[in-house]
Amino acid sequence: MKHIAVVGVGYVGLVTGTCLADLGNQVVCLDIITERIENLKKGILPIYEPGLEEMVRRNVKAGRLAFTTNYTEAINGGEGSEPAEFVFIAVGTPSAVDGAADLEYVRAAAESIAAVMDHPLIVINKSTVPVGTGDWVADSVKAKQKKPIPISVVSNPEFLREGSAVHDFMNPDRVVFGSLDPEASHKVAQLYLPLRTTLMTTDLRTAEMIKYASNAFLATKISFINEIANICEALGADVKEVAVGMGYDKRIGRAFLDAGLGYGGSCFPKDVLALAHMAAVKGRHPQLLQAVMDINADQRKSILSKTRNLLGGDLKGKTIGLLGLAFKPNTDDMRDAPSIDIARWLIEQGARVKGYDPVSMTAAGSLMPPDVKFVEDPYELAADCDAIILVTEWNEFKQLDFDRIRQSMKTPVLIDGRNLYDPEKMRASGFTYRGMGRGYNERS
Ligand SMILES: NC(=O)c1ccc[n+]([C@@H]2O[C@H](COP(=O)([O-])OP(=O)(O)OC[C@H]3O[C@@H](n4cnc5c(N)ncnc54)[C@H](O)[C@@H]3O)[C@@H](O)[C@H]2O)c1
Repeated sequence: MKHIAVVGVGYVGLVTGTCLADLGNQVVCLDIITERIENLKKGILPIYEPGLEEMVRRNVKAGRLAFTTNYTEAINGGEGSEPAEFVFIAVGTPSAVDGAADLEYVRAAAESIAAVMDHPLIVINKSTVPVGTGDWVADSVKAKQKKPIPISVVSNPEFLREGSAVHDFMNPDRVVFGSLDPEASHKVAQLYLPLRTTLMTTDLRTAEMIKYASNAFLATKISFINEIANICEALGADVKEVAVGMGYDKRIGRAFLDAGLGYGGSCFPKDVLALAHMAAVKGRHPQLLQAVMDINADQRKSILSKTRNLLGGDLKGKTIGLLGLAFKPNTDDMRDAPSIDIARWLIEQGARVKGYDPVSMTAAGSLMPPDVKFVEDPYELAADCDAIILVTEWNEFKQLDFDRIRQSMKTPVLIDGRNLYDPEKMRASGFTYRGMGRGYNERS
């Protein structure tokens, strides 16, 4: 059993801390948001993540998982907890104005650790940070220490997906460790041995780059298939079948070839932007990354003209229902969710917008334009709508009572932003249906 502190209790920190506790370690999770920690002590989670609540409860009960706002207690130990040997940093790294990753929270966390540490530590960077940050974290901890105490920094990027984060943490394709101190890397790798997966050790900067390159590649696959979707739409082919046909090829694979409204969320947009920024700062021309971002922005925007065309060329006075608001299913994360832009654009064009999501309505409340009307279920959403746009492909939207939906709409227009539905079935049910790149323009 190892003693671990996790700094930052968001999607990554809470999952990391809880899973490490579940693997038998003693974990203290720390955040600066007092309310978040008080709620966690009562078993109330700040995020929606399948399976996590039960796991938190079980590990708290077993005495392996605790929550605090106190750095001294988390790192040096306190009532009922031993000093930590490992400190994971899992704070946010949002985009700064210029597109670089904003390291304000990482800096604050590193300095707070430095200010209290009274014994040698291995600091592990789980946050996605620009290449070179690991060196910088070590320097800023050393600079803020009251007296020199040994510290090693290991980069251990996280690859989990929101919505299946617990499963992903426990069943990784690989775990990457980067450090200038091989012994520290080796010690951190030991924490992951029970997962029986590929453990890859490298230098610090390479580990940091592996994370950016991985996210950029996945975002590229999404933009690639969206570009193909646009061409399919023009030529009358169905991109969904095209992706299946491509995916049988093992060199290509089926994953991340779903045409739709493009990527959003807290990672891909900021990570592709940050990588392009890092390249540009060094005088490189990240043309592919730029195209990936442009295609993604265009794809999101394309839903507007699609809706307008289907509603006679004018959105003024029209009521549009957004089915699903979270940036993807099985999460309540609304960061950079396409629904926010789409609602704003529709309202700018004079439409009234209603929204429904199974879990993200609370999170959406403060991020969506104030004019959006939130409703309780898909049927209330459909009432008097001129069109419904499926924005998030939640499972529960697959089997709706479409007769009921169609009957309560003003005009039965269904725009399927995620290609969730069968176009033929939807047409047979009486909808005017449009997907993304499904080649139906010429047929209806
Ligand atoms: N969300 C994902 O799916 C995902 C996946 C892989 C990697 N990442 C990366 O992991 C990092 C964290 O992402 P997230 O989505 O978990 O962020 P988040 O915003 O959900 O959580 C960050 C937490 O850190 C806390 N925090 C900020 N400053 C702090 C400080 N000085 N001391 C203690 N706590 C502090 C915040 O209060 C918040 O609770 C980011 O770099 C992100 O790019 C995220």
